[in-house]
Amino acid sequence: MPFAHITGWGVSVPEAVLTNDDLAKIVDTNDQWIRERTGIRERHIARENQFPSTLGAEAALKALEVANVKPSEVDLIICATSSPEHIFPATACLIQDLIGADKAGAFDLSAACTGFVYAVNLAAQAIKSGSSKTVLVVGAETLSRFVNWKDRNTCILFGDGAGAFVLQASDKPGGVLSSVMRSDGSGSDLLSIPAGGSHQPAAEATIHAGSHFIHMDGREVFRFATRVMASSTREVVEASGLTLEQVQWIVPHQANIRIIEAAARGLKLPMERFIVNLERYGNTSTASIPIAAVEAAADGRIKPGDRIVMVGFGGGLTWGAVAVEWTGPLPSERKVRPQRYRTLGRIRSFLRRMARMLEGLIWGSKA
Ligand code: UT7
Repeated sequence: MPFAHITGWGVSVPEAVLTNDDLAKIVDTNDQWIRERTGIRERHIARENQFPSTLGAEAALKALEVANVKPSEVDLIICATSSPEHIFPATACLIQDLIGADKAGAFDLSAACTGFVYAVNLAAQAIKSGSSKTVLVVGAETLSRFVNWKDRNTCILFGDGAGAFVLQASDKPGGVLSSVMRSDGSGSDLLSIPAGGSHQPAAEATIHAGSHFIHMDGREVFRFATRVMASSTREVVEASGLTLEQVQWIVPHQANIRIIEAAARGLKLPMERFIVNLERYGNTSTASIPIAAVEAAADGRIKPGDRIVMVGFGGGLTWGAVAVEWTGPLPSERKVRPQRYRTLGRIRSFLRRMARMLEGLIWGSKA
């Protein structure tokens, strides 16, 4: 059975920054409250022409560059997102088209902020089963579009961005070691976007009621999060046959510094073993774990051979963790520049659309 290694990684974050002081100009809040209660100082917000697909594609191309893999070698794209561009098509398909991954299957995974952890596990299972050799996992968000900028309980928390991993098959032991995936739908009302799906389709009344925005019971989610972060970390470490002492880094979902501190206390680990960057990004939902992991890999904290646990929680309710031995690019003679494939991808996409149009003209209503 092949092992599933993380061989490439990348992020893409919008340039525009919204500070706590900026927020204090639009809602009744202040920098001190936000910093003390959440740890967040600023977050990045997408411009009008930035979407989960464009941020996700940018992160994906960077990840492919690190892994030295061409877009055409990707077998499967899983996009975890809490802010999909449409109910369908999947944002993963838009990313597939943008990067020109012409041999890849693509689907979205909806598990709120736990989505990236679930997706890494499913990518690893696809590789271990032999059905895929190379899988791209993307966490991509523009949650700012679903934030009620009049609700100080939620608008201070979220930010936009994307992160991506490339997972590849190899006979060498390592890579994804174990995983835990859990859910509790009895808490589905605690964190949700109530309308816009088939339960409450968009209507004048749902818009007036603000039901297309994020609704959250912050205190309940906080209590739930502090419970499951430590327990699922313990569980996944045990399942991997390791001990906590043998794990170099915990990469937690970046929601609130107090939740991470509670997890550290629960695990009796110092905060120095946790990768934390939420002060600069806020909660980027599915993108928060890859953005934190990629920063730590880029600045040399996470090194090949390190064992790390990525652990998350979110709406659903969902929670989960993966234990990984960090790998890095597999040995290769060639140097692939996936960014170059972006133009080829655009041309291919254009030609496909033209061919479809011509077919329509030729066959008309006969089909
Ligand atoms: O990916 C998962 C996403 N969700 C989460 O991770 C959310 C988890 N929950 C939390 O992070 C915290 O519950 C919050 C940051 C949302 C809130 O912090 P808290 O310490 O639980 O505050 P609270 O809701 O208990 O509110 C305390 C007080 C309240 O005032 P009163 O009723 O005590 O007078 C709030 O009205 O703070 C007030 N408050 C604020 N004050 C200034 C709530 N939000 C704000 C604000 N600025 N932005």
